[in-house]
Amino acid sequence: MGIDKLLDGVQVASIVCNQWGDTGKGKFSDYFSEWADVIARGTGGNNAGHTVVVNGEKRVFHLLPAGIVYDSEGKFNILGKGMVVNPKVLVQEMDEIIDAGKTIDNLMVSRDAHVILDYHVGQDKARYESQGNGGVGSTGRGIGPCYSDKVGRRGIRMFEFLDKNILSSKIGKVKDFYPNQKIDIEKIVEESRPFARRLFPFVSDTDAEMQTFLKQGKKVLLEGAQGLLLSVEHGTYPYVTSSDCSLNGTASGVGISSRRIDLPLGIVKFPFMTRVGGGPFPTELGGVKSEKYCGESGHELENELESNGIYFTRHGEGIKYDSSHPRILKMIKSEDSFVRGAGMRLAAGEYGATTGRPRRIGWTDAVALKYAVGINGPLMVLTKADCLSNKGDFEICYEYATSMGFSTRFGTDEGFLRSVKPINKVYEGYGDIGDVRSFDKLPKSFRDAVGDLEKFTGGRVAMVSVGAERDATIVR
Ligand code: GDP
Ligand code: IMO
Ligand code: MG
Repeated sequence: MGIDKLLDGVQVASIVCNQWGDTGKGKFSDYFSEWADVIARGTGGNNAGHTVVVNGEKRVFHLLPAGIVYDSEGKFNILGKGMVVNPKVLVQEMDEIIDAGKTIDNLMVSRDAHVILDYHVGQDKARYESQGNGGVGSTGRGIGPCYSDKVGRRGIRMFEFLDKNILSSKIGKVKDFYPNQKIDIEKIVEESRPFARRLFPFVSDTDAEMQTFLKQGKKVLLEGAQGLLLSVEHGTYPYVTSSDCSLNGTASGVGISSRRIDLPLGIVKFPFMTRVGGGPFPTELGGVKSEKYCGESGHELENELESNGIYFTRHGEGIKYDSSHPRILKMIKSEDSFVRGAGMRLAAGEYGATTGRPRRIGWTDAVALKYAVGINGPLMVLTKADCLSNKGDFEICYEYATSMGFSTRFGTDEGFLRSVKPINKVYEGYGDIGDVRSFDKLPKSFRDAVGDLEKFTGGRVAMVSVGAERDATIVR
């Protein structure tokens, strides 16, 4: 089936992640931006890092919808009311887009989005650092403290940030909640004015705008952030972010019902998956050793390549190396699952988009996916499948061994998830699939795994991604 058929009759499409984030939402936001008239984000803030690769050039977005990289002339980009927006970061990202020769004239920021100020960031960093390894962890961008203020009914919304008197009075009321942060109200208000002036023309009632767009028949793309297993409602609480980044939460964050979504796509890394930060991860290769290792500093990509004697070159902010280097292949074949995981991490380049820190890695967990499909809907997009080309056999987990017997239930509580042992089905490895553009041409073992996954989860794989670039995409 071609993309035209998939999009036939669709007015609203959405992209959310069915795992722990970093699955390729940025790539698909960009992919569907050719089709969409309006691209909107509804949850999270600059804890997100969404990568778009066009003609070999990589760009990472934190607040602006990644689809803005597409020739955005005439397209509307919305930061919805469910988001938490750091004005400084937004202005910086806007400038970067302007410098790249793109237009931001049609950017809209919800008047009701909550604003992240320096004391949120300070509080987040202090808390994260004090937790050290094994803690809930955060990206240190002030997301948790800002959402806490929101649900605590003391948050500052964008329209309040724009007015210096309201801002001053609102900070006065929250000050006591941040006893360890230096809060000089006058200084914060003064320093925020250039950002307020800059953002003023873009702030509007985006919920109302969205309703108008829908009535006008405009095509809308929702770009989710984070992933279902990081949702404060549905994820592995408390090892989660502070928003509901499910399909429902994303729709709610742009002021629409999820019933309006005609094409809800759940992005899934396959046949491996990753997690950043602490928390249970049943299929993780190397288990708690890997969790600890990935939480420590000093294991960034550059260090890993150096310590394994793998030659690399620097290209702008990126690092280039041979992901099929004999040393990496040897690591993947290791009997030691920690070493195997470290090899897969290098093969798939699973290092944070901004921090360069290693992402925890394991086989795709179909038990978790069945849970995600139940909440986010059946349609799936599989990504990064090319990363395991020529890397040997692969595995998928369809069951957990527990002290009470076998289970196909994904319980979100830490004790349960840390106690289970994954039962994996092994599939024959596959060769290079980076140039494959039709589902039928994918290797049999891969198609068998897709069939098993669909049967087990009740989902349906609509697309497979075999590379970071737009065209490396298979529509089934
Ligand atoms: P997001 O947070 O969901 O947008 O994902 P990230 O951008 O944090 O991480 C996904 C990474 O995988 C990025 O570097 C993408 O360029 C890259 N990527 C996405 N899809 C594919 C794919 O199918 N194959 C390969 N090799 N890379 C991909
Ligand atoms: P994208 O949109 C992966 C993780 C953090 C931390 C936890 C809480 O790029 O997929 P927070 O700063 O939100 O309070 O951190 O959630 N986390 C993500 N992991 N991808 C993301 O976003 C994430 N956003 C937050 O690492 O463990
Ligand atoms: Mg990311």
